[in-house]
Amino acid sequence: MSDFQFTGKFAREAKRNIKKYPKGKSQSAVLALLFLAQEQNHDEGHYVTEAAMAEIANILDMPLIRIVEVASFFTMINLKPVGKFHIQLCGTTPCMLRGAKELRKRCEDYLNIKNGETDENKLFTLTEVECLGACCNAPMVQINDDYYEDLTPDSLQEILENLGDGKAVKSGSQIGRSCSEPSRGGKI
Ligand code: FES
Repeated sequence: MSDFQFTGKFAREAKRNIKKYPKGKSQSAVLALLFLAQEQNHDEGHYVTEAAMAEIANILDMPLIRIVEVASFFTMINLKPVGKFHIQLCGTTPCMLRGAKELRKRCEDYLNIKNGETDENKLFTLTEVECLGACCNAPMVQINDDYYEDLTPDSLQEILENLGDGKAVKSGSQIGRSCSEPSRGGKI
């Protein structure tokens, strides 16, 4: 028996996801179960442990290596502990052309960490990822479950400062536009 077990609402959600698929196709629930295992471990580093992967392999009757292959492909699955605030910084072409490199440099300088690292207070982890689907509002980052868009190095640093100080921050566009409307007052 694995050291990890789904419990409470996570066990119920795991069962519900498995039931979505026809008999014999339950392996299709692998990504959902990985995500649930990560959420169940939210306060302990918000990552998927080896024990959790072993349990998912057991539940879905899959070789463990197949679970590891899926978990290591998607950046939404963390394979090691992350800080309280996980900064996923988009480095794909539209964000890169609009300043993602400068955002990354500011993050690294301000937090004194490199990409893939967590700061010494375990508050922030920086991970450069591929497109997060908010290209119209590039450059952007995702921090935990929220998107922060139309960023400059200064506005990003202010967000990090406020998060670090426990203050409220505003997600979405940082230049006040609604969704992806044109940034020049409705004129294209
Ligand atoms: S390229 Fe950054 S969100 Fe799409």
